[in-house]
Amino acid sequence: MPIQTVRLAVDPAAPDPAVLERAAAILRAGGIVAIPTETVYGLAANAFDPNAVARIFAAKGRPARNPLIVHVPDKESARALVTEWPEVADQLADRFWPGPLSLVLPKRPTIPDIVTGGGSTVAIRCPAHPLAAQLLRVTGLPLAAPSANRSNHVSATTAAHVLDDLDGRIDAVLDGGPAGGGIESTVVHLGVTPPRLLRSGPIRAQELSTVLGQELTTQEASPDRAEADSSRGEPLASPGMLLRHYAPDVPLEVTSQPHHRIAAWLAQGLRVGALVSTADQLSATDQLAVVELPWSPVEYASRLYDALRWLEQQQVSRIVVARPPAGEEWSAIHDRLQRAAVHE
Ligand code: TXA
Ligand code: MG
Repeated sequence: MPIQTVRLAVDPAAPDPAVLERAAAILRAGGIVAIPTETVYGLAANAFDPNAVARIFAAKGRPARNPLIVHVPDKESARALVTEWPEVADQLADRFWPGPLSLVLPKRPTIPDIVTGGGSTVAIRCPAHPLAAQLLRVTGLPLAAPSANRSNHVSATTAAHVLDDLDGRIDAVLDGGPAGGGIESTVVHLGVTPPRLLRSGPIRAQELSTVLGQELTTQEASPDRAEADSSRGEPLASPGMLLRHYAPDVPLEVTSQPHHRIAAWLAQGLRVGALVSTADQLSATDQLAVVELPWSPVEYASRLYDALRWLEQQQVSRIVVARPPAGEEWSAIHDRLQRAAVHE
């Protein structure tokens, strides 16, 4: 049964307290509300309320073993949710919070199992977006919030994206304009030594290892691994590492020869969507929808998901993405494009 999804518009620079209070009241009452963060929109619920969290999984169609990130207003609130707070957690939180970094640590029993997919660890992050930060203070609750998209679809970076995926399935969306960064937070496991990078993101591995004074290990994306984890009935070790995780609805390929690949698909009579660099100087036609993004990693990240969502709405049967430059500042973007490109 669809429910009425309320759009609560608010100016992030000067939010109307009455609007924030309305969102907070819905959350306190066990509702689910999409909120902007400095990465992507999150679909928030009271992390202490298993029924509210269950509604997040239902609304997204998210597998029960894929754990959620819990958002907190500060480091002290994070410490209250975990059984261990190692020195490395202090170092990273002091340097990067509030900001797009999620820390995985052993959870306290106060966090319901549904939040962590049945697992013993919890991912925690302190968001920098002013609306997310103020809502956390007004509610006085930790907020469990995955990205506010249908499971396996690209993340939402505007309230319109949220409504495209979840209208009628969530109580409200707090519309504070486009989310800033456009790429989901970096996720680091601190329950292991040395710390392990579980998902690349806006905060680069190099920045983390500089602060920690040690190299991180990484966990490679692997469908085999995910299957092994799920067949043992354990929470997925890091479902963010699943291949084909951020995919648009249309088959997508990443190529260093976009002109060539586009011409090949057009020659087969297919309608094609292209995501290229401004330098490619590609013109749209009846059969070709084009988005040009500048090859600056910050701007590219902030517009990537909007570009993919727009292209899939253009009734194309293939999306061709020009491979962005190499380099660590592009690694989170390569990671997301690689996942979007895998199709069964
Ligand atoms: O930027 C972000 O992280 C956004 C905003 C809303 O905060 N949230 C987000 O959530 O991207 P989600 O659920 O789409 O991605 C969370 C990732 C998933 O890959 C999940 O598997 C992983 O973090 N994760 C969460 N808890 C974990 C845990 N306890 N252990 C390992 N991985 C975990
Ligand atoms: Mg997600």
